[in-house]
Amino acid sequence: MTEPKQQGRGPTTFPLSALRDPGCKEVVIDSAGERSGIFVVRQGDLIRAYVNSCPHQRVPLNWKPDTFLTPELDAIQCSLHRALFRIEDGFCTAGPCAGRSLTAVAVRVEAGIVTVDFPAPAATSGGVSPVGLP
Ligand code: FES
Repeated sequence: MTEPKQQGRGPTTFPLSALRDPGCKEVVIDSAGERSGIFVVRQGDLIRAYVNSCPHQRVPLNWKPDTFLTPELDAIQCSLHRALFRIEDGFCTAGPCAGRSLTAVAVRVEAGIVTVDFPAPAATSGGVSPVGLP
C-alpha cells in the first residue's frame, strides 16, 4: 500500500485507491517537529477527515492500523471505551463522550488523489469539509 506523502506543514496526499469503501486510512503529519495523527474515512461518496483523538480521554481512537469503524462499518468507534461517532460529522452518539464531536480536518479529492489540509481548519461551520469524488 502506498504511504501518505509527507509535505511538512503543507497538505498530505495519497491515492484514493488506498482508501477502502467503507474504510479508513491513518496519516501522520509532521508539522514543525510536532506529529499529528489524522484519519480519513470513506463511506461511498462521503469522505471526511478527523484528528485521531477521542474527546473522552484525548487518546488515539484505534488500536490497529487504519481500523476506526465498527464491525458493521457504519460508524466510527473508539477502541478504548467503545464510544460511537457518526461518519458524516464526527458527532458522538453513544459512550462516555456522547454529545461531543471529533475534530474535523479539511479533506478533498481531485483526480483520484486525496488531500488532507492540516493544520488548516475544516471549511464549514459543522466542522466538515465537502469533497467531490471523480
Ligand atoms: S477514550 Fe474513547 S471512549 Fe474513552
